[in-house]
Amino acid sequence: MNPFPTTLASGEAFCNRKHELKRLQYNFTHKIPTLLVSPRRYGKTSLALKAFEQIKWPYAHIDLYKALSEEDIARFLLTGIGQLLGKIEKTPKKLIKVATEFFAGFQLKLAIEKIGLSVEFARKNKKPVDTILSALEKLDAYAKKIKVNVIIFLDEFQIVSEVAKNTAVEAAIREAVQKASHVTYVFSGSNRHLIEEMFNDKKRPFYKLCDTITLGRIEENDYKTYINKAAKKQWRQELKENVLETIFKLTERHSYYVNKLCSLLCQKTGVPIENDVEYCWSEYVAESKSSIERELSLLTLNQRRLLIHLSNEEGIIEPFSKQYTQEWDISATSSHRAMQSLLEKDYILVDSKGQYCVLDPLIKKVLQEI
Ligand SMILES: Nc1ncnc2c1ncn2[C@@H]1O[C@H](COP(=O)(O)OP(=O)(O)OP(=O)(O)O)[C@@H](O)[C@H]1O
Ligand SMILES: [Mg+2]
Repeated sequence: MNPFPTTLASGEAFCNRKHELKRLQYNFTHKIPTLLVSPRRYGKTSLALKAFEQIKWPYAHIDLYKALSEEDIARFLLTGIGQLLGKIEKTPKKLIKVATEFFAGFQLKLAIEKIGLSVEFARKNKKPVDTILSALEKLDAYAKKIKVNVIIFLDEFQIVSEVAKNTAVEAAIREAVQKASHVTYVFSGSNRHLIEEMFNDKKRPFYKLCDTITLGRIEENDYKTYINKAAKKQWRQELKENVLETIFKLTERHSYYVNKLCSLLCQKTGVPIENDVEYCWSEYVAESKSSIERELSLLTLNQRRLLIHLSNEEGIIEPFSKQYTQEWDISATSSHRAMQSLLEKDYILVDSKGQYCVLDPLIKKVLQEI
């Protein structure tokens, strides 16, 4: 097994997050809905799946990423429920019986597949918001009847606010969450700005509905143990302290980049020294340069201006001060506007010390090199 996956981290490739896992277990057993938030690729999905594996309750991981309409949201939800039923009812015969009863009235076509049950809308269905509410209520009634606790994990949940015409879908899900006795809900999304708008705005249905778990970076000491365990398997020895420090310095302990850099180092035969780490990272930066430049070309000139200047600083408390606006040749108003947009898109983060920093270490490095 790859100890440093660049996709989901599971099994032995999952490092720490003990505190968050404990809190999730508590929330599950107390039926407290949970919202997971973090910058992109910090490990929300991996954490949720690890927690489900620990509690051993059947779950549906419903990724809404590709949903383009309210109908899609309803369809993905029903498909997820279909697969969840497949995890509860092990024999195909029983599953078909249960699913036929469950989905009666939803005007669907059902089929048994390897992954479980697949559902397909037979024709124009009833209003998606009604389908969503009745499917979730029915799931709770069914779970209650057979005395099984189940979990619904709605990933990339910000999509709901992007595709829905109004807050009716959010309100329907809120109603189901509040009434549920045997279904526990976990929400997560990679667009922090939209997610926070959905859950923190008093006028929106999800206001104060969930316990929010904010994922930070994994601590250095936890990473050291985890990386050295893999190093002993790979090279029969642990990595030197300066090698580990260099990995942390370059990746800033961003979960995805730690794994990316370590998996590149694993491709080397000898145990890596500090120079190897620097070299691997610079090669990776060079390879990524054109795709990052393409991505950044979509930003406005002033957004790029701020990002480039901030990439060359350690973190700035007052980016709108006269000193910086003069130095960066931008008016205070334009700077505020551009910064707001960069914050919303998660390019910039204000850290615990109130400093404005570039969030992605790879983007930062590419921009330092210009
Ligand atoms: N606990 C962990 N231990 C080790 N690596 C991890 C851990 N959690 C996540 N990772 C790694 O971090 C990267 C991102 O993980 P994941 O996809 O779970 O994050 P995410 O926050 O859901 O991302 P996105 O914002 O794209 O939805 C992957 O490379 C994964 O292997
Ligand atoms: Mg994810």
